[in-house]
Amino acid sequence: MDLKYIGHSAFEIGLENNAVLIDPYVARNKKYNWHDSNITDIFVTHAHGDHLGDAIEIAKEKDATITAVVELANYCREQGCKVRSVNFGGWINYDWGRVVFVPSFHTSSLPDGRYGGEAAGIIFDVENVRIYHAGDTSLTSEMKTIKELYRPNIALLPIGGNYTMDVEHAAVAAQWLGAQTVVPMHYGTFPEIQADVEKFLNLIKMNNTNCMVLDPDKI
Ligand code: NI
Ligand code: MN
Repeated sequence: MDLKYIGHSAFEIGLENNAVLIDPYVARNKKYNWHDSNITDIFVTHAHGDHLGDAIEIAKEKDATITAVVELANYCREQGCKVRSVNFGGWINYDWGRVVFVPSFHTSSLPDGRYGGEAAGIIFDVENVRIYHAGDTSLTSEMKTIKELYRPNIALLPIGGNYTMDVEHAAVAAQWLGAQTVVPMHYGTFPEIQADVEKFLNLIKMNNTNCMVLDPDKI
């Protein structure tokens, strides 16, 4: 399993036979070449433009399936994409692993202003690793349930504040989730989401959690 940070909240999970994209707001990273990646599935946590990103274009080029909450999946289908329409609930199986959608505490609207369904976080169970992508969320006690039920190994957490958790709340989230490794995301992209990464590193260190700061320029 190879976890690539493409920037903002976008990640590629490279697996043995395919790759999976999450929140593919990726065209802005000129170093990421999705044309050469064997992307079979795209996951979108919620409908905001910085998460839906380039999903429609990539799905069409790669003939990949977009998995999202019903309202957002319907929108992607209207745009001509193959979709898998889901909601919060049980495990969803794929050839390469399984995922579960969990609530996040955030809003969601489609590019045309319509309601985009509930915003989600997504847990990936791939090659014996559990990765929790928190999407956009505030700190929520749901994270304690996520620890109890899913025991994530790696947590991808927004730290930029303003729209999501800030570094202080994300450090509490890391503790509640009990993941061995935390990767900060959703910071620095816009003026209102600048974050003190050093402060986050220090807070995380006090929890005995390993923090991996991934540089999207080095993918
Ligand atoms: Ni959002
Ligand atoms: Mn966002």
